[in-house]
Amino acid sequence: MSSHGTPIPMTSYACGPLNGHAEVPGDKSISHRSLILGALSVGETKISGLLEGQDVLDTAKAMRAFGAEVTDLGEGNWSVHGVGVGGFAEPENIIDCGNSGTGVRLIMGVMATSPITATFTGDASLNGRPMARVTDPLAEFGCQSVGRKGGRLPMTLVGAADPVPVRYVVPVPSAQVKSAVLFAGLNAPGKTVVIEKEATRDHTERMLAGFGAEITTEVTDEGRVITLTGQPELKPQTIAVPRDPSSAAFPVCAAIIVPGSDVLVPGIGLNPTRAGLFTTLREMGADLTYENEREEGGEPVADLRARFSPDLHGIEVPAERAASMIDEYPVLSVVASFATGKTHMPGVKELRVKESDRIDAMATGLRANGVDVDEGPDWWSVHGLGHGNVKGGATCVSHLDHRIAMSFMIMGMAASNPVSLDDGGPIATSFPIFEGLMGGLGSDVRRDG
Ligand code: S3P
Repeated sequence: MSSHGTPIPMTSYACGPLNGHAEVPGDKSISHRSLILGALSVGETKISGLLEGQDVLDTAKAMRAFGAEVTDLGEGNWSVHGVGVGGFAEPENIIDCGNSGTGVRLIMGVMATSPITATFTGDASLNGRPMARVTDPLAEFGCQSVGRKGGRLPMTLVGAADPVPVRYVVPVPSAQVKSAVLFAGLNAPGKTVVIEKEATRDHTERMLAGFGAEITTEVTDEGRVITLTGQPELKPQTIAVPRDPSSAAFPVCAAIIVPGSDVLVPGIGLNPTRAGLFTTLREMGADLTYENEREEGGEPVADLRARFSPDLHGIEVPAERAASMIDEYPVLSVVASFATGKTHMPGVKELRVKESDRIDAMATGLRANGVDVDEGPDWWSVHGLGHGNVKGGATCVSHLDHRIAMSFMIMGMAASNPVSLDDGGPIATSFPIFEGLMGGLGSDVRRDG
């Protein structure tokens, strides 16, 4: 089922070379944070390049419900007049975050230290995902919550009237949990300390500093120790959102596996906490280069050039790289199918609690398309068949997960037989222009029926 409306079955057929420029949308993580931090600053925050995918639109709607003035100025330009730290109003209705774990977890963090009550819900995927990983640390600030069995949405949070600062060691590698704690710390007096053993994406830290908060990160034996001084006055900003490396992954991987391809993906954010896929692809023998490396808005950026790579080989993906490519494993498993030999991916337990159980969703679909996959609770291995040997021909299930849907469409572009999908609707959550953009490069993805 599509998250919003009727299912959209699709089929991806083998195509000729992919060529041209792929201008992928703005970064999803940075887009959510831009709206939220804008809502916490008094004055006007101007955003360009905002991802207008459903996930981010749901966050924009939520920010309005908490009292911010959020205006769509067209063509990715948005304006936010915020209410200040601690200024969230109590929403009049239930906050529906749709498919977005990032949206709901970050917003829960912000409201947890204000004396307001809010109820959150989402689609069937989001309502099945664990929220205790966020509500547990928020309880330490004094926030109460009640949800369904297993800490699932729908869930009501009663924010702390007299929040206390917290020192929290994040037990799972999760930027969402880290960010929820930091956002809660904004309205607590004194210093909130978050410690992460493994580095996860650091957009929250960078952007909080950009908005004028006092925040430091120290690398110690314990891990990354992030210290935020509470109750700052955040200053509105002008933000140019870089293009999303997680979306760039799809045209890049397609170009690598479709014979004769040569695709330029300009202006991609290459924050080291996000760029693990590109390192991995190069280790597998992919012809992938960085051109015109530069810095934009405090983030490293480059144009990616990906060409067909006939000699891909399987590798061991280091477990310590997992956090920097956590959303890219589904499409990596497709590339691994076209490589020779085994690609082993350890240290990825988190994949089981994303928009779907991504190991299960991909393994089932890959096997149906003729690729052998082994899996355990926190690892999986794809036995690559080499170019020209991936059968395809199956209909895969997207499980309300945009990245699963797009990954199987990429597979169909280079498999011997077309690959179908029960529902491509979820693609709109993060990459609403996917079909048009890939079609412009030369893919043959059709809506069925
Ligand atoms: C995100 C963090 C990651 C990632 C998600 C976006 C973020 O989730 O999978 O797509 O913007 O903080 P986890 O924090 O659960 O790893």
